[in-house]
Amino acid sequence: MRKAAFWLILGLFLLGSVIIGQNFSYVGSGKCKMCHQTESRGNQYSLWQQSKHAQSFSVLTSEKAAERAQAADVSTPTEAPQCLKCHAPLADKAPELKDEGVTCEVCHGPGSAYRKFSIMKDRAKAIENGLKLYGSPEAIKTYCLRCHENAHHQPFNFAAAWQKIKHPLPQK
Ligand code: HEC
Ligand code: HEC
Ligand code: HEC
Ligand code: HEC
Repeated sequence: MRKAAFWLILGLFLLGSVIIGQNFSYVGSGKCKMCHQTESRGNQYSLWQQSKHAQSFSVLTSEKAAERAQAADVSTPTEAPQCLKCHAPLADKAPELKDEGVTCEVCHGPGSAYRKFSIMKDRAKAIENGLKLYGSPEAIKTYCLRCHENAHHQPFNFAAAWQKIKHPLPQK
């Protein structure tokens, strides 16, 4: 009996730390823009904004979307989980950011803690505070495939697609 209570308390403790540990929230690309729109840092904000990822929610209001929706037996693509899961992946977790579509924090993790300058400039600290990086082309590709693998039965050429959307820091 004592043993069971011990494991129960330990379990609750671990569960609690997992919940607290992941208590980062989404802040929106406007917050990243402040620091990531200068040429000297690589202007990631503009590169993203010019990419189709920034339009992935609004494209759901197009005529083509209505056609696709009909074929998928969906009535309102801008509300349908079947479309939002790839076109507006924050729709559940941060509904106010739904219209940002495939935004920075979809790929880099919720930014409430890592966006502070003192944390951002230190890669290890940023990762500890929720920043998601990938480290290898294979890891990046695996992530892209979550949405791009066989999407609308279209082929996905990772190398070419990455060339289109990459947004590196300038080489020092
Ligand atoms: C207060 C300024 C500031 C804000 C706000 C900010 N960043 Fe940064 N970010 C930096 C700095 C400084 C670096 C370090 C690289 C450098 O020196 O340019 C960096 C680096 C990064 C890196 C690369 C890390 C690495 O080591 O490769 C990513 C990814 C990143 N930021 C994403 C974001 C995202 C996403 C947001 C919004 C949620 C954001 N940043 C908000 C200043 C900022
Ligand atoms: C598995 C992820 C995924 C789902 C689910 C998904 N899409 Fe897409 N959608 C994509 C990707 C990825 C592209 C970009 C394809 C490309 O151009 O290579 C895209 C492109 C589009 C486009 C623009 C260009 C085109 O090819 O027509 C429209 C419109 C669209 N999707 C509508 C929808 C609608 C409506 C739904 C829900 C019925 C939906 N999508 C569900 C991933 C998805
Ligand atoms: C579709 C996913 C995706 C989106 C959207 C996205 N990024 Fe990235 N970003 C990546 C990947 C993948 C890398 C490469 C990281 C790695 O190799 O670990 C990267 C790298 C970066 C880097 C570091 C580049 C370097 O040279 O180290 C910065 C800074 C960055 N992103 C900021 C942003 C900001 C700011 C936004 C929004 C304005 C954004 N990203 C949107 C996927 C994305
Ligand atoms: C959360 C889902 C999601 C993830 C993850 C994702 N994408 Fe996309 N991507 C989309 C959607 C949805 C579109 C279509 C947007 C539109 O047409 O308006 C798209 C469009 C694109 C396009 C434009 C296609 C064209 O015909 O010009 C490129 C390039 C692209 N993605 C590359 C990537 C790469 C590279 C990665 C991985 C680093 C990635 N995407 C990760 C959902 C995603």
